[in-house]
Amino acid sequence: MSRVKEGVYGEKINYKVDDEIGQLVNTFNIMSDTIKQKTEEAKETDIAKDEFLSMITHELKTPLVPIQGYVDMLLGEHLGPLTEKQKDRLKIIKTSAESLLRIISDLLDAQKLELGKLVVKKEKQNIKNTIDIAVQALQPRATENKITIKQHLDKEILVPHDRERITQVLTNLLKNALDVVNPDTGVIEVFVEDSDKEIKINIKDNGPGIPIEKQGGLFKKFYQVDTSLTREVGGSGLGLAICKGLVEEHGGTISAESTPGVGTTFSFILPKDSESVK
Ligand SMILES: Nc1ncnc2c1ncn2[C@@H]1O[C@H](COP(=O)(O)OP(=O)(O)OP(=O)(O)O)[C@@H](O)[C@H]1O
Ligand SMILES: [Mg+2]
Repeated sequence: MSRVKEGVYGEKINYKVDDEIGQLVNTFNIMSDTIKQKTEEAKETDIAKDEFLSMITHELKTPLVPIQGYVDMLLGEHLGPLTEKQKDRLKIIKTSAESLLRIISDLLDAQKLELGKLVVKKEKQNIKNTIDIAVQALQPRATENKITIKQHLDKEILVPHDRERITQVLTNLLKNALDVVNPDTGVIEVFVEDSDKEIKINIKDNGPGIPIEKQGGLFKKFYQVDTSLTREVGGSGLGLAICKGLVEEHGGTISAESTPGVGTTFSFILPKDSESVK
């Protein structure tokens, strides 16, 4: 009975006497078997659900390839000249296809992280380069909205990491900050705390902050603070869940500190010594 209490089902109690206790034992054994069967069924359903999601997201990606290819070909006027109006509409198709592809890729990543199937390729390399790549890619969007991004790290630090994946984490965090700060007055700062065993990368913004009661669920899949239909920035709420998964695959942790009305700092730690890295 104590084994059942620990969650081990299907083991039989051996008591063959045909008395009241015997009947109780018999019923208990049947019950334990039923629970075992039900848990196995639930596990199988979970696996089937995961496989279905992986398959469907993969299948959704395929038809996007020709859509994107032909839009580019049309926009490049390789199939004949276009009016401005036609070009404008095609640009909308192009950005919509890009958003769709991003959501599908995010779903695939979240799914792979959950199944432990996402492989990060860690190499000991300079984290400053990785940060610079992420910041530079978003610089045009910041400049367009008169938002300042200050990148404070100016020295080389070697940290084992998958450059592409950590760029993805930084991009998600920077994009979130860009989404919430005010144009003209928005300031986003990236700074790194360096110690013997690890580094801590911080992304600080002077946005609206996150209400304390909403901070708990930030790293959950599909979680969004502003769920009103009228919210201005899109997104699927997968960004931070993916960041958490990717940082943990590097053997690190991620956290957020926020003061409503002042701003938010997202921080993640990456271990330097490759032994503590998974
Ligand atoms: N720097 C920030 N300041 C205030 N709120 C934030 C900040 N970063 C994230 N949030 C809140 O946390 C929510 C979840 O962020 P997350 O990146 O997971 O999803 P998203 O940005 O809404 O969508 P996605 O990243 O999938 O496109 C956001 O919707 C936003 O409400
Ligand atoms: Mg996001």
